[in-house]
Amino acid sequence: MDGSTVELFDKGKTDLKALPARMETRRLNLYYGDFHALKDVSIEIKSNCITALIGPSGCGKSTFLRCLNRMNDLIEGVKIQGEVLLDGKNIYDPDVDVVDLRKRVGMVFQKPNPFPMSIYDNVAYGPRMHGIRDKRILDEIVETSLRQAALWNEVKDKLKQSGLALSGGQQQRLCIARVLAVNPEVILLDEPTSALDPTATYYIEELLTELKKDYTIVIVTHGMQQAARISDFTGFFLNGVLHEFDVTAKIFTMPEKKETEDYIRGRFG
Ligand SMILES: Nc1ncnc2c1ncn2[C@@H]1O[C@H](COP(=O)(O)OP(=O)(O)OP(=O)(O)O)[C@@H](O)[C@H]1O
Ligand SMILES: [Mg+2]
Repeated sequence: MDGSTVELFDKGKTDLKALPARMETRRLNLYYGDFHALKDVSIEIKSNCITALIGPSGCGKSTFLRCLNRMNDLIEGVKIQGEVLLDGKNIYDPDVDVVDLRKRVGMVFQKPNPFPMSIYDNVAYGPRMHGIRDKRILDEIVETSLRQAALWNEVKDKLKQSGLALSGGQQQRLCIARVLAVNPEVILLDEPTSALDPTATYYIEELLTELKKDYTIVIVTHGMQQAARISDFTGFFLNGVLHEFDVTAKIFTMPEKKETEDYIRGRFG
């Protein structure tokens, strides 16, 4: 983060809109076969902010999130129109290396999914894939990533144990460490705390708030309090449309649209 960004932060929330966009979608449309799942979604994902995506089940949140690192490429019959820019470059351009893209834009899923290998190997997996072999360097990346994910103290004496032997909340932090290990720019999280207890949820929320100093974060959540607590911007999706998007404080106090108000007050969804 450069000096000007820090300065903007210090001035407080009113200047959030002046922050540069790390990612941007322009009139993004997605079809699953004939089904039109995302309709003209245009949004700016601001650098070093947490953007929360909310909305009723089936409205397209996960679909949208997957567009941001081309995870939908893997689904048969998907057609995508429009642009998704990362630092101004369309990630759907033919010359984009998808492996490199997914390193820059990492993803954490709803259900913690450690690989069936040791804690150490889970975190070292990405760096090894990208060609790092030196044990000293790997040791350092593993420790730094686990520290950043606020898991180091709990696992430092059992790095050779299976990642699957950790608790759910620890597994989710391990998955976050695994993403951090490849030094991404953007982290996408799809309901990362929905399977966790309040303590583990609190841990992850604190962690994300800490991580946004260095990363740009997009989180899908069904927790209105979670969105209100941790995010800077909130997007409300309805039937594949980005129905309302604004700074979080505005969405949760004075939303422009009735449907947004109804949803955040728990009247539907
Ligand atoms: N692989 C797929 N093939 C066909 N349709 C799909 C596929 N994945 C999602 N859909 C449809 O696209 C729409 C949006 O789904 P999506 O999973 O993005 O919703 P969501 O907002 O994440 O919902 P939830 O809150 O339940 O996770 C839904 O109608 C869903 O049935
Ligand atoms: Mg979803």
